[in-house]
Amino acid sequence: MLQANEREEIARLWARKLEQDEKKLPQLQRHRNLEPDSAEFICALASGIRAKGLIEIGGSSGLSTIALAVAARLTGGRLTSFEIEETRQQEARGTLAKLNLSQYVNFILGDAGNFLRSQPAVDFVLIDCEKDDYVRFFEMLPLHPGTVVVSDNILSHRLTDYVRYVRGRADIESITLPIGKGLEVSRVREEKLN
Ligand SMILES: C[S@@+](CC[C@H](N)C(=O)[O-])C[C@H]1O[C@@H](n2cnc3c(N)ncnc32)[C@H](O)[C@@H]1O
Repeated sequence: MLQANEREEIARLWARKLEQDEKKLPQLQRHRNLEPDSAEFICALASGIRAKGLIEIGGSSGLSTIALAVAARLTGGRLTSFEIEETRQQEARGTLAKLNLSQYVNFILGDAGNFLRSQPAVDFVLIDCEKDDYVRFFEMLPLHPGTVVVSDNILSHRLTDYVRYVRGRADIESITLPIGKGLEVSRVREEKLN
């Protein structure tokens, strides 16, 4: 569970995101953070499955990073957070330091596509980057039986190709949950298929 100061920081980032949307700023100047309800959900899910190895693709200014760093604190695990924009990641680093969560996060600046294949197997992944990259990045993930992958914006952006892809894989079970902007929750099956 998130603590009060962590929720306050999430609320602050979310209020700023809504302001940026209201001003209709260009995409590069908006932070496009995860909805607070989705942050609560991924924190509960990742800690509930005792995820020790966690990855997020698209950390931006750190809203989802707070949620997953808290999950890592609860499980004794570690989050690897990929972000391609330096200023956003710098802000996330500052926020996580202020919350004493830095020790749970390995920040990597750059295109996640250059790093994913060399990561050790992980238990939990958040995909929250450019929508055209979802399938490509899913295919590069270091999965193992039981890994859970949550992807955002499924309903807001009608990501039907991605949903068709994950549901078409025999080794994955997957469901869309109407939380926030729509989360696809996919899990690598542990049982052997005939
Ligand atoms: C929707 S925002 C992420 C919001 C973030 N999860 C949060 O809750 O604050 C998408 C982010 O993905 C980053 N991004 C896009 N493509 C990327 C890539 N190939 N590798 C790493 N980060 C990427 C963008 O710079 C942007 O900050």
